[in-house]
Amino acid sequence: MTGVKTVGLLGGGVIGAGWAARAAINGHDVVICDLDPEAERKIGEVMVNARRAYSRMTLAPLGELGSIRVVRTIEEAAAAADFLQESLPEQEELKIALLGRADRAARPDVIIGSSTSGLLPTKLQSGMTHPERFVVGHPFNPVYLMPLVEICGGAKTSADAKERAATFYRSVGMRPLLVRKEIDGFIADRLMEALWREALWLVHDDVATAAEIDDAIRFGPGLRWAFMGTFLIYRIAGGEAGMRHFMAQFGPALKWPWTKLMDVPDLDGALLDKIVAQSDFQAGNSSIRDLERLRDDCLVSVLQGLRGRDFAAGSVLRAFEEKLYERDASAMVNADHKVSGPLRLHTAKVEPRWVDYNGHMTESAYLQVFGDTSDALFRYIGIDAAYRASGLNYYTVETHIMHLREVREGEPLHATTQILAADEKRIHLFHELYRTRDEMKLATAEQMQLHVNTAESRACPARANVLDQVMRIAEKHRRLPRPENAGRQISMPTTGT
Ligand SMILES: NC(=O)c1ccc[n+]([C@@H]2O[C@H](COP(=O)([O-])OP(=O)(O)OC[C@H]3O[C@@H](n4cnc5c(N)ncnc54)[C@H](O)[C@@H]3O)[C@@H](O)[C@H]2O)c1
Repeated sequence: MTGVKTVGLLGGGVIGAGWAARAAINGHDVVICDLDPEAERKIGEVMVNARRAYSRMTLAPLGELGSIRVVRTIEEAAAAADFLQESLPEQEELKIALLGRADRAARPDVIIGSSTSGLLPTKLQSGMTHPERFVVGHPFNPVYLMPLVEICGGAKTSADAKERAATFYRSVGMRPLLVRKEIDGFIADRLMEALWREALWLVHDDVATAAEIDDAIRFGPGLRWAFMGTFLIYRIAGGEAGMRHFMAQFGPALKWPWTKLMDVPDLDGALLDKIVAQSDFQAGNSSIRDLERLRDDCLVSVLQGLRGRDFAAGSVLRAFEEKLYERDASAMVNADHKVSGPLRLHTAKVEPRWVDYNGHMTESAYLQVFGDTSDALFRYIGIDAAYRASGLNYYTVETHIMHLREVREGEPLHATTQILAADEKRIHLFHELYRTRDEMKLATAEQMQLHVNTAESRACPARANVLDQVMRIAEKHRRLPRPENAGRQISMPTTGT
């Protein structure tokens, strides 16, 4: 419990509005001071985006939203606050003056944090009567999503204030990082600025364009930085010999002109020992192989997450998969002339996340597998990225799943597909799902697929190349026995009473 009900905010620009959204989403009432007549609108718009992001990020119940009230004086926001956060323009004189006014208006037990990107807390607290309650709480944009907040105290800040600030930031879903020494730019901005300086030189020297520099990060090291930072990734790069080996291999390069940042600490024995000891502590009991697996799993999560957005490194993965699927589908089409039974187009394995509390594949996973089976059929009949990009696709308009047997995690599965009927706009499908090791039938799904113009959301005939494939398969499948459960409805035999 932080005892914080109302959060006071000074400044409602990019960062202040982000704080307002984070606080309100966490149920705090917010009183925010900004002189901009457009402040209400701007903060409201940030709030809409923040709620949208949270609804995508988590299914956990968020609770009731706090209120947001915009006021025009520093004193009004400070007097109402149980925790106060300043996000005014990055001007030292202005911040010192307004923080002084806020300090006089706020209750003496209220912690005052500043979002400053790099001004020193000792200076910012210099106009305060109660400087001991002042900390820098440096957030990152967008504040409502980015967990990191760097806490840095000034000469007069109390340890208790840093502790209470950390407790509050944690309570609104953040990850406080205590900066051990008061230093310009704190930790993260110093790291970002080193990269930024080098990037500016690369543009200046026509080595790379802005877009190429961003590509070098987002398709490369940026993906790893997201979850392991720099030291742990370099430890893994050292292989079984670890950090000392990495430093021996790449340490000398620091003296070569790879960057314009030529000022580098002497890699003497003492510094090497310090880095190696800190790296050992960081890695704990994890072997290099353990760390490699963790790194790979995290990379897969990031890449899969981005694949859903079809953006940055995710679009590379998507294009790669598309190629694999298309190659697979055309190989199957070529081998299909002799096929006389239902098509066997999709295989899968019961993934850990598909399993429910009973240890069995959960309901939604059946729909996933049958959806993937339909996708396999679509690839098979010639629907590729270009076809979809032209605004044409099949949509599922009806599904009836029958669950016949339970299936456990890790089991290999395969699915078959029979076209029961088709015309230029529709495919009536019957899928069967099997446990591969013993051909046990697990479930069936009957579906109606409608060919649509996706831009206009209306049914339309499939293109000739796709339709030819559909009709060719339908003609073959017409001769197959109709599946026993096709056309079945849910019904309960009535018993006469
Ligand atoms: N933008 C970022 O990415 C970022 C990241 C971390 C920290 N910060 C820090 O956060 C602080 C705010 O930055 P920002 O990007 O939100 O700036 P901003 O210009 O978007 O917002 C500043 C707000 O302060 C208001 N303001 C100015 N004078 C005022 C006054 N006298 N009384 C009340 N309101 C007043 C302005 O109307 C504006 O809405 C700065 O210290 C900055 O260094 C910024």
